[in-house]
Amino acid sequence: MAKKIQSLIAERGWGFVAVEIPDQHAFIGFVGLHIPKDTMPFSPCVEIGWRLAPQHWGKGYATEAANASLHYAFMHLGVEEVVSFTTVNNTGSQAVMKKLGMSYAYHFAHPDLDASDPLSEHVLYKISKAQWEVFTR
Ligand SMILES: CC(C)(COP(=O)(O)OP(=O)(O)OC[C@H]1O[C@@H](n2cnc3c(N)ncnc32)[C@H](O)[C@@H]1OP(=O)(O)O)[C@@H](O)C(=O)NCCC(=O)NCCS
Repeated sequence: MAKKIQSLIAERGWGFVAVEIPDQHAFIGFVGLHIPKDTMPFSPCVEIGWRLAPQHWGKGYATEAANASLHYAFMHLGVEEVVSFTTVNNTGSQAVMKKLGMSYAYHFAHPDLDASDPLSEHVLYKISKAQWEVFTR
């Protein structure tokens, strides 16, 4: 996965980036921006995503790093909207989305998963640059 992430950063100049806690842990996971595959019902789009090691959950690190990623998307990449999605039961990830000022858009079935798969049902959240500017004012 790290190799894939590195190759996408080499290609685009941005992507998911490593998260570290200065002077404590050199690597606790990743947060950043990605272009999901074009089979997603809301593609083309720019996604924000995250995954941290469990011992570092609940300390605000995902939200802090994701806020920096949103700033980068809107102020440096010129992106007009950022989306995020997760399974309906992933309340932790949805809590991060809400803390970033993102709004629920709709439920959808993940195109890569069979409808009978318990992880199939996903939720989409979004934030536009204009909404982000109001939220962070
Ligand atoms: C989702 C994830 C990145 C959250 O990281 P985190 O650093 O714990 O998030 P934060 O500390 O910034 O939490 C932000 C808010 O979410 C809440 N939260 C975090 N985990 C939660 C959980 N499991 N259930 C409910 N709320 C949760 C926090 O309480 C916090 O809200 P608060 O400030 O009002 O208390 C982390 O749980 C993770 O890596 N999960 C596994 C990978 C994953 O699910 N990735 C997303 C796939 S789409």
